[in-house]
Amino acid sequence: MTRHFLKDDHLTPAEQAEVLALAASLKATRHTAEAPMPLAGPKAVAVLFDKPSTRTRVSFSIGVAELGGYPLVIDAGSSQLGRGEPIEDTARVLDRQVAAIVWRTFGQDRIEAMASASRVPVVNALTDEYHPCQILADLQTVIEHKGSLAGRSLTYLGDGANNMAHSYLLGGATAGMHVRIGSPEGFRPDPAVLDRAAKIAAETGGSVGWTADAAAAADGADVLATDTWVSMGQEGEYDARIAPFLPYAVDEAALGRAADDAVVLHCLPAYRGKEIAAAVIDGPQSVVWDEAENRLHAQKALLMWLLQR
Ligand code: CP
Ligand code: NVA
Repeated sequence: MTRHFLKDDHLTPAEQAEVLALAASLKATRHTAEAPMPLAGPKAVAVLFDKPSTRTRVSFSIGVAELGGYPLVIDAGSSQLGRGEPIEDTARVLDRQVAAIVWRTFGQDRIEAMASASRVPVVNALTDEYHPCQILADLQTVIEHKGSLAGRSLTYLGDGANNMAHSYLLGGATAGMHVRIGSPEGFRPDPAVLDRAAKIAAETGGSVGWTADAAAAADGADVLATDTWVSMGQEGEYDARIAPFLPYAVDEAALGRAADDAVVLHCLPAYRGKEIAAAVIDGPQSVVWDEAENRLHAQKALLMWLLQR
């Protein structure tokens, strides 16, 4: 059975730990004779984008090349997929020529359709609902700065209904973390995701929760995370989406409520003065540049791991 990574709980707790350990090892051996080349040949990996990207595009392109492979980066607008060719037909064409398919798209149903017809691994490079590759990089970053994941508390303030919030819930619970989402009432996480994360947390010793009380959510957090209030595809709602989120900004007051040695995550791109204060993202507790770099290492590990199944 081909393994895909379409959302965070597609890795079990043990598998997630394996991928994160591999990511650390790939980071340590990068540009050395020990760096593994599992895509040597080269084998190609298709990296498709229906939405803009800087980090994901760069890290998958370079990551595939560093594994000895050939990254084939395709923007939807320049492919037949963007003109309505069926997703399943695209999968059937690609899987005869590439070792894996990485896709950034809109609805989760689209990437599920791709995976349903693909004989090679399909990786979610962000959908409206989840951003699981980002969470692997975030977890690697927390391990680097805190030493471990299980039992640590991670608070996410902002849009509780977006891809980052959902992936923190599932991926953090898988890692045994205590994940709290602080968001306005109208932007709560999908109850089905919260339920699933709670079930995972019950097995890993973690916990998950939601509150509208931003101060209570931030209280004592080991990790404080946020994301844009206006995700890709929501640009038309910009004006309506700012005011409700103002109390959930990761500013100096919010950081002051977190643990003294808390670290701050943001998947980027960041909007200073909106979801995060300049003093916080550019301050000493911010680890966002390590986080951005770790996209490279975590995704190389994920691809290697998936291709070994
Ligand atoms: N964090 C992230 O996915 O960034 P890009 O949109 O630039 O890929
Ligand atoms: N929630 C954001 C994440 C960007 C990496 C978006 O979907 O636009």
